[in-house]
Amino acid sequence: MKGVILAGGTGSRMQPLTFVTNKHLLPVFNKPVIYYPIERLVEAGVKDILIVTSTEYTHHFHKLLGDGSVLGARISYAVQPAASGIADALRLAEVFADGEKIAVILGDNVFEDSIAKFVKDFDKKRKGAAIFIKEHSDAKFYGVVELDKKGKVIDIIEKPEKPKTNLCATGIYFYDADVFKFIKKLKPSQRNEYEITDVNKAYLKKGMLHSYQLTGEWFDCGNFYWLLRANLFIARKHHGFKD
Ligand code: DAU
Repeated sequence: MKGVILAGGTGSRMQPLTFVTNKHLLPVFNKPVIYYPIERLVEAGVKDILIVTSTEYTHHFHKLLGDGSVLGARISYAVQPAASGIADALRLAEVFADGEKIAVILGDNVFEDSIAKFVKDFDKKRKGAAIFIKEHSDAKFYGVVELDKKGKVIDIIEKPEKPKTNLCATGIYFYDADVFKFIKKLKPSQRNEYEITDVNKAYLKKGMLHSYQLTGEWFDCGNFYWLLRANLFIARKHHGFKD
């Protein structure tokens, strides 16, 4: 599989930190946020990676990561002209994917667990798409997933006011080549973005949406509190810090 990391957007929730740089370049302990999703892909054997960035800070990513060899990856770049949503950013990966399956990670997501076994499973056995589910105490800020009694996904709702469950769609998505056909059919949401949840719902409608449960910790570093939590987690787990 090839890898895609989406690191565009405006970072407006993280101002003033994002007035002078991109949120994916802020620190999680001793590394920029974006190192973590890259490391997850490389460790799983996904080394050809496309990073989609916004126009303003592309050169920062180049300076930090270059061709990716510093992290054992082969990195190329695409620039999203406007922050029109996650699915819009993914649209730019069509030529790069070149008909292969892709593992997509949101550039502000930090995961404790390896995804190697899931990459292997999806690459060998699955068609369609897969989402990665994890419980979260603040579900209303995410894509919220409803499962049936057998554990199959029956619905995903983007940032519902009153979440029916505390199960969230994290920022890892696996897709087959059809994803680009689904993206082309999307309409912008009420907040005028092309939503990744709508892509996943299109697969769900066709009975082609698989799900994997994550057991380790997950941090969406797109707000101050969870960026802090990710920092504390990494400091304690990997660097021996105690309170
Ligand atoms: O973190 C998981 C959540 O990510 C999911 O549960 C939600 O279903 C999904 O919509 C998304 O929600 P967020 O509100 O956290 O998305 P955010 O706008 O923060 O963007 C997530 C990443 O996608 C971020 O790393 C930047 C990138 N992005 C975002 C936009 C809007 C782009 O590359 N281009 C964009 O236009």
